[in-house]
Amino acid sequence: MIQPWHGLIEQYRDFLPVSEKTPVITLNEGNTPLIKASHIHEVVQGEIDLYFKCEGANPSGSFKDRGMTMAISKAVEEGAKAVICASTGNTSASAAAYSARAGLGAIVIIPEGKIAMGKLAQAMIHGSMVIQIEGNFDDALKIVKELVARQNFALVNSLNPFRIEGQKTAAFEVCDQLGSAPKYHALPVGNAGNITAYWKGYGEYQSSGRIDGLPKMLGFQAAGAAPIVRGHPVGKPSTVATAIRIGNPASWKGAEAARDESGGVITDVTDKEILDAYAFIASKEGIFCEPASAASLAGVIKLSQRGFFSSGDTIVCTLTGHGLKDPDNAIQLSKQPLKVDAEISVIEDVLKGCCI
Ligand code: F0G
Repeated sequence: MIQPWHGLIEQYRDFLPVSEKTPVITLNEGNTPLIKASHIHEVVQGEIDLYFKCEGANPSGSFKDRGMTMAISKAVEEGAKAVICASTGNTSASAAAYSARAGLGAIVIIPEGKIAMGKLAQAMIHGSMVIQIEGNFDDALKIVKELVARQNFALVNSLNPFRIEGQKTAAFEVCDQLGSAPKYHALPVGNAGNITAYWKGYGEYQSSGRIDGLPKMLGFQAAGAAPIVRGHPVGKPSTVATAIRIGNPASWKGAEAARDESGGVITDVTDKEILDAYAFIASKEGIFCEPASAASLAGVIKLSQRGFFSSGDTIVCTLTGHGLKDPDNAIQLSKQPLKVDAEISVIEDVLKGCCI
């Protein structure tokens, strides 16, 4: 019989800092599909096995739900009345959803005009207080940190260690689904919490004896927002992948540790490479992710062109968020629908010469 899934806190309780007293606030997040790529040989050189960890299948449509079930459960346990975060969109969507469920107030501070429409809609419909600033994510995070020092709000950005604890469970799932750790794990890098969390998760699974080897961590930043690659903060980050439009990541050191301890790489990919990978994943693999998510595959394609991988390598690419969050980019990049009269003969004419 298929075991019911009650969310990642119940599933991985032994690995998480929760007790009998922790009120578990869950939307049954986690248990997301690991899907084997079927057309990858068209874009990646060599005989590799590539899998997509589809985090868009989480309840609010991104990996943030893993961290948020922990952060909000602990905030309730600690008696918080409201939570606050800065966000490029997904953290705010997730914080809004989980605080609604918990009956907590939520305040989200976002860069005006630079978050995808679906994410804004989520924060609004879940009833959080949405504050848009004329500034970027880094400005928003600075303000949030100052507010937390003055007021009694619980911070639910990934500076909150419970966020990392929850997010590390994605690495556990990958190992459970594959039966071992992959040789490489590729991720987009923004505020750098997720790569930090995965590396922690793999390490803990190894220490517990559930896996033997560890993956090499591959992190990819957008070229216009690549502080870790450049080695210094970027004052005016810019990229089409708004989710990772970050110039001074909070978990910078964690990302470098993941890279160095695993023997991995953090490098950058251009917006064109991101959008090409985004279109490929949708049109060839049938998976609709958001542009930032595609930075993981874009990076793998780029490294493969340099002969980085060997035959037989297993690579997991995390697709961090669902494509429906960002309809504008999808519509802009795609062939536009034809507009014709509602006449069968006209439509038949249009269909002549088409492949169907
Ligand atoms: N992919 C998506 C879809 C994201 O929303 C984010 C981060 C990342 C990748 C990068 O993950 O920050 O852990 O390195 N979004 C944050 C937010 C910053 O506010 O939603 P990271």
